Amino acid sequence: MDQHDEHDNIEDIPSNKSGNRPFEDVLKVNMDRRKLLKAGAGIAGGSFFGFAGGVQANSLSRALFSFNEPLIDFSPVTLAQGGGPEPAISADYEYDVILPWGQPIRSNGPAFSIPVDPNDQAEQVGIGHDGMWYFPILDPLAVDTRFGWDELEDSNPWLSGYLSEGDTANTRGVLCMNNEFGTNFAVLRKDLPESLSDVRVSQHAHGVTVVRLQNNNGSWEIEDSTLNRRIHVNTPVEFSGPAADHDQLQNVAMNEYMGTVNNCANGYTPWGTYLTCEENFNGYFGTEDESWEPNPSQDRLGLNSGGFGYGWHLYDPRFDLANPNYANEHNRFGWIVEIDPLTPNSKPIKRTALGRKKNECAAVHVSADGRAVVYNGDDQRFDYIYKFVSAEPWREMSENGLSPLDYGTLYVARFNDDGTGDWLELSMDNTDIASNFVDQGQLLINTRYAADLAGATPMDRPEWITVAPDGRVYCACTNNSRRTDEGIQTQGGRLVDTGPNAANPRAPSSDGHIIRWIETHGHSGTKFEWDIYQYAEDTHGTEESYADPDGLWADPDGRLFIETDGGQKDGLQNQLLVADPQTGRVSRLFTGVPGCEITGIAVTPDRYTMFINIQHPGNGDPTVSPFPATFGSSDVPRDATIVIRRKDNGVVGS
Ligand code: FEO
Ligand code: CA
Ligand code: CA
Repeated sequence: MDQHDEHDNIEDIPSNKSGNRPFEDVLKVNMDRRKLLKAGAGIAGGSFFGFAGGVQANSLSRALFSFNEPLIDFSPVTLAQGGGPEPAISADYEYDVILPWGQPIRSNGPAFSIPVDPNDQAEQVGIGHDGMWYFPILDPLAVDTRFGWDELEDSNPWLSGYLSEGDTANTRGVLCMNNEFGTNFAVLRKDLPESLSDVRVSQHAHGVTVVRLQNNNGSWEIEDSTLNRRIHVNTPVEFSGPAADHDQLQNVAMNEYMGTVNNCANGYTPWGTYLTCEENFNGYFGTEDESWEPNPSQDRLGLNSGGFGYGWHLYDPRFDLANPNYANEHNRFGWIVEIDPLTPNSKPIKRTALGRKKNECAAVHVSADGRAVVYNGDDQRFDYIYKFVSAEPWREMSENGLSPLDYGTLYVARFNDDGTGDWLELSMDNTDIASNFVDQGQLLINTRYAADLAGATPMDRPEWITVAPDGRVYCACTNNSRRTDEGIQTQGGRLVDTGPNAANPRAPSSDGHIIRWIETHGHSGTKFEWDIYQYAEDTHGTEESYADPDGLWADPDGRLFIETDGGQKDGLQNQLLVADPQTGRVSRLFTGVPGCEITGIAVTPDRYTMFINIQHPGNGDPTVSPFPATFGSSDVPRDATIVIRRKDNGVVGS
């Protein structure tokens, strides 16, 4: 089940070209979902039949955005407004702050306090809020009522605008949120841990937060539920796919598989699960052993004796690179991890078929031939863009008890100078690279090396990827300060600066760009045509100014949401913008606080409510920003989620 060239000629034709569907379509969607849910186990279907009265998208008047043209219909945050010490939002919108770092995930849980207790932190919202997704709950009385997102199989997998106002899906959901990182300064209020207890605080602050949210008269609050849980660095996990149980994942210590770390951006599947992406995992490993040196495989992923200064290895031998009992522990990180938000005790599963690298995101799209396609950026200077294609249509695989994320083909992108592109296969069937590996598991553990050999195009730090309703795929290349016109070969003979290429032409790329492509043989095919959507630098000095694009999300109407992470120009804080790819217009919806980055994006199905995150406000320093406390406070800053709604929305989603 690994070849599907015969499908390369199938053209993807998006079925949802706008948010304005004929009513017959809406009914069909609802009928299909009813069928799917009735097939599910343990489902109380009572409230579900309300869907038969589904509302046409364009009859909703209070959503975040008009479901029709124009795509941008709000007054932006101006340059003058977007640089202050407090968040700023468009005059047409308002926001609330929820889920700050340290909030207990249960009503009787431990309250936030400094210094943080390690056991408390394991029962509290983590830090470093990043990618997230909202999984609607159809029937509040049925814990495992699963939302049937697979109806829109050629499009974005959610039911935007098709739910009537009484549906609990828009007021109750499970939010899965990545907790990417918190420095020792931010979490421990000191530079290095002084005990294993300190290390545990840091480890428990990382990972994923899963909480059931409820909109109580306009106020989104955590609802007590067995679904609420923290997944962190010491949570038992499983491995699946070609590298599961590989020799190179085993340790002399025989320690069980545990933990996920540096969970950056995310994905969500049409079968209702959450994907969390392990990015800079290397920074949590280190060693005091001065004789230790990285081998080439470790070097390719940036493992080094100092790490990012977390010092976990000082008290936890799992993270000591020179400890022979844990020699392969680092190979257990760098994966894309699937979490079932609606099954409380399910273990997170590391899906090795998707490759090991510094995964930014996992944008799932269903191709016209029914396959699950996962687009994925590897965020490092001169690293690559990947795509995984399931071996068969995902529904058939699921019905046969197979995960669509375990069987399929991993590709890496080559952007040719003439505007065409090729997806290069990373498997033992690729004779250009196979002789360098003993098996597919080893290849996947060393995905970057395989991609080097295949001839992938070195990019300017690929961050989020999103698939627009017209089928175009957008990727934020955030910046690359080290790309030079000459290209310099250093570091053990490996080319660490390739010089410019057509898809990454600026050297250095100080402010980043957004590249996009069309899959000319369908999303499961191996050919594409690309162009550069926008250079951030070109917006500077205008009211549309932004830099360092990172988060990207295309909504079902074709709006492109852009979140930034880096030094903004023109006096701005990091920001959330809305772009119209048809006109090229960019409009500023929200700006954050000093020292922060804007991350994560999720919406309720009716798109009355949007969630984004303020990550690392003040970089932990209250004199820079004590957010969510008011500027001037000495409170320790706390990452938090921002709930956005239109001012004329009344009671949100009620
Ligand atoms: Fe975690 Fe590449 O941002
Ligand atoms: Ca990012
Ligand atoms: Ca970034």
